[in-house]
Amino acid sequence: MTTAHLGAAYPFICEGGLGADGALIGEDLLGGWFVYDPFELYARGILTNPNMVVLGQIGRGKSAFVKSYLWRQAAFGRRAWVIDPKGEYSSLASAWGTEPIRLRPGGPIRLNPLDTGPAEADCRRPDVTQTESGRRQTELLGSLAGACLGRPVTPRERAAVELALASAVSRSSQPPTLPAIISALLDPSAQAAAIIRTDRATLAEDGRDVALELRRLVEGDLRGMFDGPTTPGIDLDGSLVVLDLSALYRSAALGILMTCATAWLQAALARGDGHRRIVVIDEAWAILANLGVARWLQASWKLSRAYGVANVAVLHRLSDLGSVGAAGSEQVGLAQGLLSDSETRVIYGQSPGEAEASRQLLGLTTTEADLLSQLSRGVALWKVGRRSFLVRHRLGPSERALVDTDAAMAARPAVPPGPLSTGLR
Ligand SMILES: Nc1ncnc2c1ncn2[C@@H]1O[C@H](COP(=O)(O)OP(=O)(O)OP(=O)(O)O)[C@@H](O)[C@H]1O
Ligand SMILES: [Mg+2]
Repeated sequence: MTTAHLGAAYPFICEGGLGADGALIGEDLLGGWFVYDPFELYARGILTNPNMVVLGQIGRGKSAFVKSYLWRQAAFGRRAWVIDPKGEYSSLASAWGTEPIRLRPGGPIRLNPLDTGPAEADCRRPDVTQTESGRRQTELLGSLAGACLGRPVTPRERAAVELALASAVSRSSQPPTLPAIISALLDPSAQAAAIIRTDRATLAEDGRDVALELRRLVEGDLRGMFDGPTTPGIDLDGSLVVLDLSALYRSAALGILMTCATAWLQAALARGDGHRRIVVIDEAWAILANLGVARWLQASWKLSRAYGVANVAVLHRLSDLGSVGAAGSEQVGLAQGLLSDSETRVIYGQSPGEAEASRQLLGLTTTEADLLSQLSRGVALWKVGRRSFLVRHRLGPSERALVDTDAAMAARPAVPPGPLSTGLR
C-alpha cells in the first residue's frame, strides 16, 4: 500500500501533514505542528477551493481562531475583510492600526449594496439585467425580498424587480440605490410594463409586496445604513477592513443587513486589486438561516475565487444551514453545496445530538463524529479536502488581548476538559 492509501485508511495515524508553508495554527495532537494556508494548498492542488467553514458550540474558540489566523496571515501580506455582527474585532483592528467601519441606523456611514464595483459602465446599459453586475443586483434584490417575505419570490415579482432595476439604472448615472428600486417598483413606467405585455397597474401590483418589504431597509428603525449612495472616502485599501454591525445584533433583520454588507464587500472585491484576501463572515448563521440569502451567498462564493479570495463562514452547527430538511430536500442540497464549496472544515466541539448530521454532511467517519462531543475549548477536527487533523489552536501571549471575548462574561463556566485535552499525546 502507498502512504496515501494508509493515510486514507488510518487518518489519525498516518497523516503526513500539510507541509510548512503558511500560518502556524497550533499543535497537531498526533505530533508536530499544524500549518495551513488555503492559497498555498490551492496552488499545490491539495484543495480545489480555498473556502472554509468553522463550526462549533458557543465559546469553543471559533472567533479566537479566526482572529489569530488573520493576524498571522498578515505576516504573509494577506489582507482581510470581516463582517463582524458582535463588534468583537475592534481589538484586532486597533492592533492592525485601523478603525472598524461601524454601521448603525442614522449613523454617518452608508453602504450601497447595489454598488457595482469596477463594471460601472456596464451598469448603465439598457439591458442591465444581462450584465454581470446586473445579474448580481437582481439576484441580491430577489434574495433580500424573499428573505423579507419569508418565501421565494414569484416569477411575476422577479420580473417586476428586473424591470425596476433597469428603469432605476436608466434614470441615473450613478449605481442604483434601494430607494430608487422601491420607487420604480411602486410606480413602474409604461415602457417597463410594455416589455412584459402588461399595463402599469398590473406591474405595480406584481411588485408591490416586494417594494413594501424592501421599504423596511430604507424606512423606520433600519434607516440610514443601506439606503443611499456609499459614503465617499471609505478606505478599502487598508490591509484589514472590519464592518461592525453590532448595533443591529439583536435585530430580527440581522441576516438581511449582513447580506447587504456582504453584497457591498463582494462588489468592492470585483475591483480585483491583485491582493489575496480572506473574507470572514462571523456569526454566519444569521445569513444562512434563510434559504434565499444562503443560496445567494453560495453563488457569490463561487465568484469570489476569481478575485483571489478565501471565504470563511463561522457557524454554530450544521442545522444553521437548514440541513434538518428531509433527505433530498432543497435545504439539504444547499447545505451540501455550501460545504462542497468549502473544502476546509474546522469543527470545534459539537453536542452529541449533532453527531449524525455532522457525520453525513461533512463526510466524517463514525470515530471522527463521536470525537466531536469530546473536544475541549481550542481543539478542533480539521478536514482539509479529504484529510483529517486534530489541532489544538495555540494563542501567543500578545494575541490573547486580541481574542478575549470573556471579559464581560467572567461568570461563563469554562468548557470542561474532555479526554483530548488531557493526555492523548
Ligand atoms: N485556543 C485557545 N486557547 C485559550 N483560550 C482560548 C482559545 N480559544 C478561545 N479561547 C478563549 O475562549 C473565549 C471564547 O472564545 P471565542 O469568542 O473565540 O468563542 P466562539 O466559539 O467564537 O464563541 P461564540 O459562538 O459565542 O461566538 C475567548 O475569551 C478566548 O480568549
Ligand atoms: Mg464567536
